[in-house]
Amino acid sequence: MKIAIGCDHGGIVLKPTVKKVLENNGIDIIDMGCEDTKSVDYPDYALTVAEAVSKGEVDRGIILCGTGIGISIAANKVKGVRAAVCHDLFTAQMCAQHNDANILAMGGRVISEELAGQMVQVWLDTPFEGGRHNGRVAKISEIESKYFK
Ligand code: RB5
Repeated sequence: MKIAIGCDHGGIVLKPTVKKVLENNGIDIIDMGCEDTKSVDYPDYALTVAEAVSKGEVDRGIILCGTGIGISIAANKVKGVRAAVCHDLFTAQMCAQHNDANILAMGGRVISEELAGQMVQVWLDTPFEGGRHNGRVAKISEIESKYFK
């Protein structure tokens, strides 16, 4: 599996732990920046990761900003992306199980490094449940097709 990571200066604190968890799982990591705590614009990093997911260049993405909010809003503007901002193990599990989230967003000013690592592991380990959720995810795609050309 190949996973792209992108972050801004507010999320970079979580990146080393996230990368370590991915490495421990034998996942190929594409690090799309940023590289330090210099102030940058989170939509730029959301876009590169979201486009890589949308084009199938990577299987999934992980995006990090101060809250996880801005970077997930931006990523969700890209066709085929279901980016979920999560704050705990339950939401990390459910976004995989019910929403088939192909991008996990987290906030470096919201959660600890330790929790972020645990959330990544849960998100990786939890399969999409399908069943009744297939139709719901398909309805998300229908909305997307209506508004995004
Ligand atoms: C940057 O200061 C901050 O606004 C950003 O990291 C993020 O929290 C936006 O949603």
